[in-house]
Amino acid sequence: MSKQPRITILFVCLGNICRSPLAEGVFREVLREKGQEHLFEIDSAALGDWHVGQRPDPRSVAAARRHGLDISGQKCRQVNPEDFRHFDLIFGMDRGNIRRLQHLAPPDTRGRVHLFLEYALGRPEEVPDPYYEDEESFEAVYRMIREASEALAERLAERALSVCRSGQASSTT
Ligand code: 4NP
Repeated sequence: MSKQPRITILFVCLGNICRSPLAEGVFREVLREKGQEHLFEIDSAALGDWHVGQRPDPRSVAAARRHGLDISGQKCRQVNPEDFRHFDLIFGMDRGNIRRLQHLAPPDTRGRVHLFLEYALGRPEEVPDPYYEDEESFEAVYRMIREASEALAERLAERALSVCRSGQASSTT
């Protein structure tokens, strides 16, 4: 049986314990609601190595839980060089993330790196780092990520359909 083609997406932030695990979980949930989860491969990663192997921050887990989502099973990992070849779209949460990703990316892969809200919503805005902030900041981060995830799924709908068609074609040959 041939392998189902997929759109591959990596969400990246500084620590991979607050913002990018929420983005991974929320975007997966949006896809699940649309019946499109199988058309995507989604992951998240950190620029820093401080929290590698750890579960998401309890404040992100709680924000997700307030909205009926469980992200507690995720585990922090660091961005690695292969990510720039494997993932079609690499989304940084803020401009500092983008600068570091552009620095790490092989030159021919730099076009895969985008600011998440800018790509999804067409607004040049950041998802601010909530690490030193309060519960309300985590709630605001959740809302931004939910809005952007819905817009991202819309933006990628055409591409998802063509992936779906090519998967159907290859599974019958
Ligand atoms: P994140 O938040 O990048 O959204 O996961 C942070 C988590 C940890 C640290 C900074 C930001 N830290 O400095 O350890």
